[in-house]
Amino acid sequence: MTEEPAIVALCCNWCGYNAADQAGAAKIPYPSAVKIVRLMCTGMVDPYYVLRAFERGFDGVLVIGCHPGQCHYKSGNLQAREQTDRLLGVLRTLGIGPERLRMDAASSSEGPRFAEIANEFTETIRKLGPSPLREVA
Ligand code: FES
Repeated sequence: MTEEPAIVALCCNWCGYNAADQAGAAKIPYPSAVKIVRLMCTGMVDPYYVLRAFERGFDGVLVIGCHPGQCHYKSGNLQAREQTDRLLGVLRTLGIGPERLRMDAASSSEGPRFAEIANEFTETIRKLGPSPLREVA
């Protein structure tokens, strides 16, 4: 992939977003390819958001929320896990590829973990190349 990948990170307000903020405040580098969208909870992640991101030309989608058992809305992250697991099959069927969607967790104090996830995922997407949908657009 010659140009930088485009990645959207759907982060929950309480953990994922704060972890990203902490990474930034601590000057822990993570790729600028990762664009953060803050949601109150990953339980709000509708499959439509993910599919729309790919349709809009993103090469990968990250979902980062609280660790299991620590969701501020009790089970939003568990619902998000179910949704993302189901979406993996849809992405496979559509030819986009399940590797382009990853769900993970980082608590509000885990800036280094957020940066690690962002770096790993960006590297994965770089190796995969542009999304097939991006090539069509
Ligand atoms: Fe963080 Fe629900 S509030 S995943």
